[in-house]
Amino acid sequence: MKMFNVYPINDVAIVKGEGSWVWDDKGNKYLDMYGGHAVISVGHTNPAYVKAITDQINQLGFYSNSVIIKLQKTLAEKLGQLSGKEDYQLFMCNSGAEANENALKLASFHNGRKKVVAFKGAFHGRTSLAVSCTDNPAIIAPVNETPNVTFLPYNDVEALKAHFAKEGEQISSVIVEGIQGVGGIRVASKEFLRAIREQCDKYGAVYIADAIQCGCGRTGGYYSQDYAGVSADIYSMAKGLANGFPIGAIAICPNIAPKYGMLGTTFGGNHLACAGAIAIADIIREEKLMENAANIGDYLMSQLKTIDGITEVRGRGLMIGIEFPFETAELRKKLLFDKKIFVGASGKTIIRLLPALNITREHADIFLQALRELLAENN
Ligand SMILES: Cc1ncc(COP(=O)(O)O)c(C=O)c1O
Repeated sequence: MKMFNVYPINDVAIVKGEGSWVWDDKGNKYLDMYGGHAVISVGHTNPAYVKAITDQINQLGFYSNSVIIKLQKTLAEKLGQLSGKEDYQLFMCNSGAEANENALKLASFHNGRKKVVAFKGAFHGRTSLAVSCTDNPAIIAPVNETPNVTFLPYNDVEALKAHFAKEGEQISSVIVEGIQGVGGIRVASKEFLRAIREQCDKYGAVYIADAIQCGCGRTGGYYSQDYAGVSADIYSMAKGLANGFPIGAIAICPNIAPKYGMLGTTFGGNHLACAGAIAIADIIREEKLMENAANIGDYLMSQLKTIDGITEVRGRGLMIGIEFPFETAELRKKLLFDKKIFVGASGKTIIRLLPALNITREHADIFLQALRELLAENN
């Protein structure tokens, strides 16, 4: 059998990792400024994390949600403390798309409405409702098309208010990324996030914060929307939550009540995922990684702004977009193969940095120096 070929891949096989370094099958060492797409939050093969999952699989690999899984309660408590949302409720699933799927569905169960507001440039995943809320017709199959989703311009308070004034009574939820990842590292303004909160309160809609890429401490706060001083009703999470062990979750505000059978999953909340996510929550708290993300992120952004040949630097913490006045495919190839540094992309002209939250200033300097050298070569 062959692979079903859906990914444009780099011609490199990564076989080993430690901290912010990875190695290919030929023994070459690379700096990881991409974190496997914002997944690696505490570095590769972090010993405490490896031990937590190893100990757990030696104890019990899996049992279903038909029994008490104490680890779920422990994780809920730790995430509540870390995010400052101790009164929220946790539901676990297996991926980011599934988290959004559950968030949107739960909102609809809660207020009995059908309409969803999403935003231009949004990416929310590839399952049916999540992809319908994603602003990319190329990945929406005919079966996923729905008249229930309206895309409004991102960061446009007036458009939001006008839309709510027109059909606010029918709107079930608003789903928004605090920083759009796939959409080009676009940061939601405080005014915009506050307006979403205000309109949702006024009309009884549910505010869903997609924190899958920008959450889990990456921007310096646990949720990227914290900086606006607003609380969402539901936060969806995945990527950085268990450092690569598959997991998705939603944190749900106290006034949305659960009913038996409303949501469900076989694998969600399994022992191994919980053990991994608990270890990550502990490491983020003990090693003050949110502070580190804010500090190193500020350093990287301030340094990047001094480099000639860059159009704009955007983001917060360790979610950074570097926009160039040219397509970056060649530059990314040179970073990878000549300088041995992994970065991500967002569209054709933006390089995306999503490194582990514990990268150091030395790691940042290696990247900055390599970028300076390659840009100088170009001139
Ligand atoms: C903001 C956002 N939401 C949802 C998803 C979907 O997550 P998953 O690929 O785990 O389904 C992603 C993945 O890149 C994402 O960046």
